Amino acid sequence: MKTKFTEAFGVEHPIVQGGMQWVGVAELVAAVSEAGGLGMITALTQPTPADLAKEIARTREMTDKPFGVNLTILPSITPPPYDEYRKVIVDEGIKIVETAGSNPGPHMAQFHDAGIKVLHKCTSVKHAIKAQSLGVDGISIDGFECAGHPGEDDIPGLVLIPAAAKHITIPMIASGGFADARGLVAALALGADGINMGTRFMCTEESPIHHDIKQAIVDASEQDTELIFRTLGNTARVARNGVSREVVEILNDGGQFDQIQDLVSGKRGKTVYELGDPEAGVWSVGLCQGLIDDIPSAGDLVTRIVTEADELIGRLSKLAS
Ligand SMILES: Cc1cc2nc3c(=O)[nH]c(=O)nc-3n(C[C@H](O)[C@H](O)[C@H](O)COP(=O)(O)O)c2cc1C
Repeated sequence: MKTKFTEAFGVEHPIVQGGMQWVGVAELVAAVSEAGGLGMITALTQPTPADLAKEIARTREMTDKPFGVNLTILPSITPPPYDEYRKVIVDEGIKIVETAGSNPGPHMAQFHDAGIKVLHKCTSVKHAIKAQSLGVDGISIDGFECAGHPGEDDIPGLVLIPAAAKHITIPMIASGGFADARGLVAALALGADGINMGTRFMCTEESPIHHDIKQAIVDASEQDTELIFRTLGNTARVARNGVSREVVEILNDGGQFDQIQDLVSGKRGKTVYELGDPEAGVWSVGLCQGLIDDIPSAGDLVTRIVTEADELIGRLSKLAS
């Protein structure tokens, strides 16, 4: 399946594994890329820039296919050393970067000078247009269905993707809610050149999280997510559990960040994945968990999606003839 995205980014299939905190590590990234998709190492999951260099080397031991690095740039009281992570990405010869979280502008010159293609992930048409005007090489447009940060506009992919497609002339992939071949075919029909998936890849054999969390995703329905931080203007979609419900209640009652800080700490979230206890903290997951019924290898998943998408396109074209 050749699209504007596969051509521009030099990958076989139009399927990307987006950056995922605590999840986007070498084994998963290599498995996705080895199957012809595009895996992304999550830079900030590595405690230091030097660790990122080691993770890149580990990934290269497992695949010689293209893979990228996600650099999530979020406002923070004590920001990580973004420039040092960026330097590692450049020095290690990475050729594809997924930026997310805020304006990629300050990093563009260094990436482009090093021949790195930038795929910018954003949640609104306005930000997609801005990123295109800054010279990014591709847009990943992330709808309200997504795990993590869906933005504040609440526009689902069914509208967001074609609305963005009206304005975006560079390769664009659709993100948020994609889990199978039907999603890929729908994304192409809506004007995208491929898909980005988080939750679906989180629930694969190579994903480094505890099996019980993968099983919790299989068991959950599309109703089992919660939107936290709404009143703070920094919405995040996470699994519905005792902790996320408590966070919502405190904030809805007028609470401020310091009252929920401990509940939402990254340390607690990491424990969820390590111990396999879905109630241990808040953890990102998307609506498409309601579409996930198994825990395949990431490679089998990529192959299944492209094979079934081909069949589906064949069936649909017969309808039209
Ligand atoms: C566990 C998890 C962690 C995530 N962490 C990040 C992150 O650190 N940076 C980022 O840009 N996106 C992050 N995301 C969002 C994904 O890259 C992707 O945009 C999103 O999952 C797409 O929606 P989907 O889950 O419905 O496929 C995360 C998603 C998940 C499931």
